[in-house]
Amino acid sequence: MIIVIIGAQWGDEGKGKVVDLLADRFDIVARYQGGHNAGHSVYVGEKAFVLRLLPSGIIHEDKTCVLGNGMVIDPKAFFEEVDQMTEQGISITPERLKISSRAHLILPYHRALDHTSEERLGNEKVGTTLRGIGPAYEDKAGRRGIRVSDALVPELLKSRIERNLAEANRVIVLYGREPLRSDEIFDEISVLAERLRPFVTETTHFLSEAKKANKKILLEGAQATLLDVDHGTYPFVTSSNPTAGGAAVGAGIPPHHITGVLGIVRTYATRVGEGPFPTEMLDEEEETANLIRQRGNEYGSVTRRPRRCGWFDAVATRYAAELNGFDSVALTKLDVLDALEEIKVCIGYEIDGERIETFPAVSQDLEKIKPIYERLEGWKSETVGITKVEDLPTKARLYVEFLSNSIGVEIGLISTGPERDQTILSLNSVMESWFK
Ligand code: IMP
Repeated sequence: MIIVIIGAQWGDEGKGKVVDLLADRFDIVARYQGGHNAGHSVYVGEKAFVLRLLPSGIIHEDKTCVLGNGMVIDPKAFFEEVDQMTEQGISITPERLKISSRAHLILPYHRALDHTSEERLGNEKVGTTLRGIGPAYEDKAGRRGIRVSDALVPELLKSRIERNLAEANRVIVLYGREPLRSDEIFDEISVLAERLRPFVTETTHFLSEAKKANKKILLEGAQATLLDVDHGTYPFVTSSNPTAGGAAVGAGIPPHHITGVLGIVRTYATRVGEGPFPTEMLDEEEETANLIRQRGNEYGSVTRRPRRCGWFDAVATRYAAELNGFDSVALTKLDVLDALEEIKVCIGYEIDGERIETFPAVSQDLEKIKPIYERLEGWKSETVGITKVEDLPTKARLYVEFLSNSIGVEIGLISTGPERDQTILSLNSVMESWFK
């Protein structure tokens, strides 16, 4: 069985908790795209783990984790995270962590180029995490990237760094920055590559054998649907494909081996970085945004940037459901809305007085959208930690049903707090059949 888990909105929907919760029922957790631009916070008892590159399954010592070929890996950030986890008592060994030989590396010049690229875009900057993600994927598509397997051959690593840096330095200098030195980069990366060597695996073969042995595999998407480079709010997107189609390519598995797709949907929306956000709470709604930001701890776990907050957008989420083929949805952060008198849900879009039913491709159109809202009464009572649907206040239940109907997918799990046990699992859902 292979299940893909994907954020339905602009990220930070709470995938970390859901993956951590479900990891128990799986043998292998694999990531298939992105890099350390992701940030999952997972709370287990008193301990808080912040995961960037490693899949959330890593916290379970009996699980094997995979960093797939579709990822971009910064070796320095990788070992910082490994060391941090080791300090927190989680052992990370080559037996339980496999890194694809085909994943691409993020090198120091990619980080520098992320800065210059944002500078060049000026007012139209993306608001990236400045981790070098975009430039590393540019090199991959430009067929000059350095893969994990290339880095294990010192002469190859050296010549590729020299060649790529000569080009990168021209841009870096053009933007008034100090050029980087290829000997310094080589010295740093060759040592880290040697440290990576024991983890390096032919992950396609590994996953294929695991499937044959009836192992259960969870593919964990990072970022989210609306940040997908093909399907998101381009150009305000990341440089990879977090959507379900990307999972097959980025993990190196046949698409028809995927059993199901689980969407992670939050009861409201947030976005970090720039770009269109039709339901953003602005002006007179700023107070509500602040309340949600504070109650939901809506600050980037990587960059600590305050997240922009907005109402649930059923048009965008329906689009995500259609695109990914969600079989079921995990609805997160219900408790964050406990304090609200009234909750708005965007059920349609209007552009220049005309109603549109589909999610527009052009970000200028998205900027012009007037959301059409349905207003629902808040439940104004605590749902934190509730574990049974029947214990939810009626109005909260109605809200959940409204969301489910408006996106056309069942809600198989509701999260009522950051802890593992603050969760409602719906009976008889598609999800239940996966996680038995
Ligand atoms: P990049 O992935 O660093 O290139 O950033 C591109 C866009 O994706 C920016 O708007 C980032 O804020 C956003 N982004 C990247 N990773 C995440 C994430 O894990 N959660 C939410 N937004 C993200």
